[in-house]
Amino acid sequence: MDSLLIKGGVPLHGEVTISGAKNAVLPIMAATLLTAEECVIRNVPNLSDVKFMGQILASLGAEVRQEGNSYRVRAAKIKGVGDYDLIRKMRGSICIMGPLLGRLKKATVSLPGGCIIGARPINLHLKGFEALGTKITVEAGYVHAHAKRLVGADLFLGGRAGSTVLGTANVMMAATLAEGVTIIESAACEPEVVDLANFLTAMGAKITGVGSPTITITGVKELHGAEHDVIPDRIEAATFAIAAAATDGEVTLLGARPDHMHAILDKMRGAGVKVERKGTSLTVRRNGKLKPVDITTLPYSGFPTDVQAQMMVLMAMTPGISIITERIFESRFMHVSELARLGADIEIEGPSAIVKGGKPLSGAPVMASDLRASAALVIAGMAAKGTTQVNRVYHLDRGYENIDVKLRKLGARIERVEES
Ligand code: EPU
Repeated sequence: MDSLLIKGGVPLHGEVTISGAKNAVLPIMAATLLTAEECVIRNVPNLSDVKFMGQILASLGAEVRQEGNSYRVRAAKIKGVGDYDLIRKMRGSICIMGPLLGRLKKATVSLPGGCIIGARPINLHLKGFEALGTKITVEAGYVHAHAKRLVGADLFLGGRAGSTVLGTANVMMAATLAEGVTIIESAACEPEVVDLANFLTAMGAKITGVGSPTITITGVKELHGAEHDVIPDRIEAATFAIAAAATDGEVTLLGARPDHMHAILDKMRGAGVKVERKGTSLTVRRNGKLKPVDITTLPYSGFPTDVQAQMMVLMAMTPGISIITERIFESRFMHVSELARLGADIEIEGPSAIVKGGKPLSGAPVMASDLRASAALVIAGMAAKGTTQVNRVYHLDRGYENIDVKLRKLGARIERVEES
């Protein structure tokens, strides 16, 4: 198992190109199951989650070819049963269910189970499928779904924490091949859902209202092959922007989508970070002293839960108190105890972390618990004095393309080593 050895205290400088969005490409790859024709997806980040999704598609019978940052998928003949051993590795694999139901009117997929950031139920996905006329049973850890016909319906997909990203994606994909009109209320507005809808539209789907809480899908008889460029990863962009500010450097993000990052950039500016936007590039540096800001994670267009951990590092370095409230996932504060090992002073009170910032950070061995927690620990390690060893970096490789290579190009002293 690899770990990252980071010698902190070096400001990051230079330019970094933002990769394609993990959370857009996973459902887009799954959507290729909706047609027997070939699809070409470009700007695909080289990530272990993407490889898993490729393996899952192949296990269902699709031909999957990777050519650099492009994937060609041809799902001429597919079966409707997803293998437990593959699916359990990645929660995002649940989004094969909608396309399988749409195309085959049946799907058997192993329940993905919980993960370190919370229970992660799929009740809303299933509610949506049922509304389209699907019978659902759960047996021996598998969800069995089948429908004689999928019929469009009006449905509400809001849950405890608001909308669901993959739930919206899943139901939208199934509804593209349903009979009649489906209206999803309380739909997720995330740019990744919009990107998926753009791909589905290129495949011949009829979808309006994406990016708003009401999405209307008029079912069609069949979809055809299409080509698509995946949007840049707003979470990766935010991670590099925060790293620039945390190390007191200056980094230009190339090929970003600042229009997908309003809440993030607003909080960064509030925290005393200067962000200059030129077309699709963003230059980030501190603007004098850092200031504490309070943050609450929310569905888009609110502040993303996937940037909460990274922003907490910046606040831990900022003199004063900031309150960071996590409203999407119930246990997404696993990074707090690891940040404490570096000297951060953070207390958890229910869904909030009270960050008493300004204590000096100093390097230590730490354990990555999930993808974004790992990114936060890498940022903290780069900002801390001394050496930090971030163990279990396979979490990072799930969602950040060549993160150590990209950071080294910006001047970071970061090495990948075999875990001792
Ligand atoms: N929820 C339910 N029932 C459901 C589905 C969700 O109660 O059937 C709840 C969840 O427990 C959570 C909230 O709704 O409290 C939102 O979850 P959502 O369904 O939106 O999450 P997701 O679609 O499973 C995606 C991303 C996550 C990201 C969330 C929120 C992918 C592959 N994953 O998950 O990304 O945090 O949306 O934006 O798109 C990450 O990249 O590190 C990551 C965890």
